[in-house]
Amino acid sequence: MDIVLISEDPAFSERLGAILDKQPGFAVTRCDASLARMNGKATDLAKVSELIVFKATPDAQDETEALRALIAAGGNARILAVSDSSIPFGVAHSLLRAGVSEIVPDTIEDAELAKVVNRLAKPRRLTLISQDQSEGHVIVISKARGGIGATTLAVNLADQLCGKKKRFGKSETRKVILVDLDLQFGAVAGFLDLQSNDALYSMARDRIEPDSVFLQQSIVTTPSGLSVLTAPDGFMPLNALQPDQVRFLINRLRQMYDYVVIDLPPAMVDWLTPVLEAADHLLIVSGTSVPFVQQTRRLIDFFKDQNPSLRIEVVVGQEKKPLIRSRRQTEAAKALQTEFKHWLPHDPKSAEDAMDRGRPLSETASRSPLTKEIAQIATDLLKLIGTKANNKTASADRLGR
Ligand SMILES: Nc1ncnc2c1ncn2[C@@H]1O[C@H](COP(=O)(O)OP(=O)(O)OP(=O)(O)O)[C@@H](O)[C@H]1O
Ligand SMILES: [Mg+2]
Repeated sequence: MDIVLISEDPAFSERLGAILDKQPGFAVTRCDASLARMNGKATDLAKVSELIVFKATPDAQDETEALRALIAAGGNARILAVSDSSIPFGVAHSLLRAGVSEIVPDTIEDAELAKVVNRLAKPRRLTLISQDQSEGHVIVISKARGGIGATTLAVNLADQLCGKKKRFGKSETRKVILVDLDLQFGAVAGFLDLQSNDALYSMARDRIEPDSVFLQQSIVTTPSGLSVLTAPDGFMPLNALQPDQVRFLINRLRQMYDYVVIDLPPAMVDWLTPVLEAADHLLIVSGTSVPFVQQTRRLIDFFKDQNPSLRIEVVVGQEKKPLIRSRRQTEAAKALQTEFKHWLPHDPKSAEDAMDRGRPLSETASRSPLTKEIAQIATDLLKLIGTKANNKTASADRLGR
């Protein structure tokens, strides 16, 4: 088990080093610098380690920036902060938000600290399965500009994630809910020929934290078995929902469903924070022209700032995947530090026909390239998330931070 110990305080390094050296099977590397002043080699080491232990200083801004950079650089290490009593609550909170798994005070007994280290250093699969029995995955759809096809992707991705019942043999269905949080211009109900209801509006108006009875009354289901929480029919101010209500809503839905797919509004509102904190994957539907790239860059920076461990993918909307990429496409991918894996071909006939009939593409144009590409996105996401068993490990990864 590789552990990296980061601190510029020699007394702290001595004490922690002594505790860690006593644990069988631990290889400890000491780094005599603060987290914010680590050199490249130490950063590389930290990336491949299982556990990073660091001394948290009151100088939080530098620490959290450094942490975010470390997490963004990849790696799978858990992070333990040992703080002195001068760390204010707000600083501790921002460390946790930046990805620290646990913070313990430096007054902790040696034996207690050894226990914490042992617990955090265990492979995640073993530690976390029991903690995270039934947490669905949250997939969020955003867009770089209106009309690019984000709702088309949200609706049909949710449909594909449901899986299909096989006539013979085992069915491969999953419990999926599509939530239309584009509160003012949400179109999901129309896409699926569903009656929209005012659940989200009454939630906001009455300051309700939705319990399962409220949700059961508010969720509608399509004939193919997809559950939907629609945007309200009438006008509702975008900021009428409170962040805590949205956090509560998503947590509830994650307990009830395997997958929660959320269609976001184009605006920045304060309740996006809980959505992004809960999200496992975020897909931004965008294009390859310069204004698209600029807007997408802004969105990625904002989303990453809210949740550094979020997996973000840019899906190219209304463009067929080229055999050979043009210079513009290559430049766009470079600017966004992505490889554009999925391209939704321009296919107005299939898209509009499905919309007019209020059915998902899988029922109206199952062979169209657009349907196949969305099915591929679903397959790739499922692969990434893993089977039901791995599913728990994947969300444990998130919890484990
Ligand atoms: N791949 C596609 N090819 C051609 N037309 C498409 C495609 N995807 C969606 N459309 C059409 O573009 C229009 C906008 O689609 P959609 O509502 O999915 O976009 P959006 O990004 O969610 O827009 P909004 O800003 O209104 O939320 C619809 O008429 C839809 O049928
Ligand atoms: Mg939309």
